[in-house]
Amino acid sequence: MGAHSTLFFSALLASPAVFAQTTFLWDQLAPSADLDWVTCYSRFQCTRLEVPLDYSDASVGTADLAVIRLPANVSKSEYRGPLLFNPGGPGGSGVDTLVQAGPSLQLVFGSEYDIVSFDPRGVSYSTPVAAFFQTDAERALWNAGSLPASLNASSDALPFNWARGKLLGQLAAQRDTSGILKYMTTDNVARDMLLITQKFGFEKLQYYGLSYGTVLGATFATLFPDKIERILIDGVLDADAWFNTNLTIEATDTDKVLQSFFDGCAAAGPELCAFYEPTAAGVADRLTALTESVRTHPVAAITPVGYGIVDYSFLRQALFTSFYVPYMLFGPIAQGLAALENGNGSILLSIVQQPAFECDCSNDTVPFHLNNGEAVFAVQCGDGSKVTDTLEELRAWYDNAAKTSKFVEFLVGSNRVSCAGWQVYRDDRFEGPVAAANTSFPLLLLTTSADPVAPSAAALKTLAGFPGSAIFTQDSPGHTSMTAPSLCTSTYFRQYFQNGTLPASGTVCAADITLFGAPAPSRRDALSAEEEELLAALKVISEAVRPVITSKRIN
Ligand SMILES: *[C@@H]1O[C@H](CO)[C@@H](O)[C@H](O)[C@H]1NC(C)=O
Ligand SMILES: *[C@@H]1O[C@H](CO)[C@@H](O)[C@H](O)[C@H]1NC(C)=O
Ligand SMILES: *[C@@H]1O[C@H](CO)[C@@H](O)[C@H](O)[C@H]1NC(C)=O
Ligand SMILES: *[C@@H]1O[C@H](CO)[C@@H](O)[C@H](O)[C@H]1NC(C)=O
Ligand SMILES: *[C@@H]1O[C@H](CO)[C@@H](O)[C@H](O)[C@H]1NC(C)=O
Ligand SMILES: *[C@@H]1O[C@H](CO)[C@@H](O)[C@H](O)[C@H]1NC(C)=O
Ligand SMILES: *[C@@H]1O[C@H](CO)[C@@H](O)[C@H](O)[C@H]1NC(C)=O
Repeated sequence: MGAHSTLFFSALLASPAVFAQTTFLWDQLAPSADLDWVTCYSRFQCTRLEVPLDYSDASVGTADLAVIRLPANVSKSEYRGPLLFNPGGPGGSGVDTLVQAGPSLQLVFGSEYDIVSFDPRGVSYSTPVAAFFQTDAERALWNAGSLPASLNASSDALPFNWARGKLLGQLAAQRDTSGILKYMTTDNVARDMLLITQKFGFEKLQYYGLSYGTVLGATFATLFPDKIERILIDGVLDADAWFNTNLTIEATDTDKVLQSFFDGCAAAGPELCAFYEPTAAGVADRLTALTESVRTHPVAAITPVGYGIVDYSFLRQALFTSFYVPYMLFGPIAQGLAALENGNGSILLSIVQQPAFECDCSNDTVPFHLNNGEAVFAVQCGDGSKVTDTLEELRAWYDNAAKTSKFVEFLVGSNRVSCAGWQVYRDDRFEGPVAAANTSFPLLLLTTSADPVAPSAAALKTLAGFPGSAIFTQDSPGHTSMTAPSLCTSTYFRQYFQNGTLPASGTVCAADITLFGAPAPSRRDALSAEEEELLAALKVISEAVRPVITSKRIN
């Protein structure tokens, strides 16, 4: 992906293995104006719900949303209705994620709820689908041409990616034969969530949203402040920055995650951190030396599944990717860095690489559900204010943004730079600000202590727009609480949903996991069987939302 790439989303898409294990033929299910459930993915129920493309003009026609639920497992009198889940993206498949994480989410939130998700309009199994490329082969060729990946790699990287954004914007507009693009905006997805809730026979939303799902939740709360039963948003973005196509603020805490790599490695010791130095500053210096070395001497690498060049851009992309899920990737990244010093790039490559592209290239068509790259682009660009910067203005904007983080190139650039060529906007779309003086129930926000793309500053700014709402912190690096299991956090989640209880101001939860697999501080009490089960469920959820690091998406 050009500069890009990893936005909020990458951390949040289900791994491709899921698709192979469990399939359901969505296109053979007739769309309906009601929730006509059929059994799917063994223990789930699926339906295709017709929704208006344009909520203010029925004549425009309908989209068909792929909706899935894991039914509640309680008696009728205890049933508490649908709890909608959005895993982020935009462009993450709620269906694929729920198939993997549904039972675990139900364990966290309670079996009184139907755990429900859906592929937002234009995404994955919902139709019509956003697609800028006619075949897999065309998409793969586009992605292969996206280097240099880092806007910081050379002086022509920013203009190159800007020009690619122009090209993609033209392709998107020309190939939007279904007309879906301008209706994929977040306000419409919020309206869809209200409609889904109403189709269940409920008036108010119960919702858990991660990452981009926090923009969706805050937008819902702004449009429908009196239709809130519970809204829990985790890994909170500054939605106003989102709608202004200026994500600079989102990079506020990115470098804190890098620092946690240095600190964690020095603390873990040479057995657990292969890139160990006795001090954090020593680890930092070693990384700087390696980064400068591959800038001038890129390394060719071959793995069992493919091959590639580990250069400056690749190294930085790999690090940035690990910031989303430090508990999973810091150990392997440290091994990859140490091997790279010895001229072996294959470990680093295998962590981030996707398998080589394969197709018979004879008559393939766009697969029904693997279009996440297009959806990311369609929603983030189509939501945002149109970028009218000249290239010079864009450069100045980028240079200013770069003061926020050493890794700003992968975050803010991929949005404003890539969206500079976008053409398809709906005039009456919601563009912020997100705020509501009086919501029918307080929102609950969760921020981690060092989130690479959703800093505490963004969460606090969002909180200020919703008086009476509450925030608490999970003390762990990474994107959203779901990348680091915490019994404490999940207890507050459950109390909020079940009893409406808000954590006291200043509440901080620890994570029940350590960086680099270091020994955990000993607990006073052994874990109960229920706690063990809950921790196992949280790990399943973190696997389900882990990045499809190996999957290239457009841009
Ligand atoms: C809950 O699930 C279990 C096992 O799937 C089933 O045996 C039980 O009948 C269910 N209970 C209710 C109230 O639905
Ligand atoms: C973008 O956001 C940053 C940080 O919030 C701000 O300093 C800058 O002026 C904004 N730029 C534009 C063009 O809006
Ligand atoms: C690189 O390291 C991997 C893992 O240790 C090893 O399998 C591979 O043979 C090494 N490659 C080279 C070229 O040394
Ligand atoms: C190729 O794809 C087109 C469009 O989907 C279809 O009409 C045609 O029958 C396919 N041809 C073969 C040989 O499968
Ligand atoms: C870009 O590269 C320079 C030189 O290596 C470095 O100082 C800077 O922090 C990098 N990042 C950004 C965002 O400019
Ligand atoms: C807030 O809204 C609720 C209904 O949602 C209403 O009962 C209450 O009076 C409102 N409070 C204020 C201060 O407007
Ligand atoms: C909710 O409140 C009830 C009654 O006080 C209590 O028994 C229950 O444990 C609470 N549930 C949660 C999840 O805190």
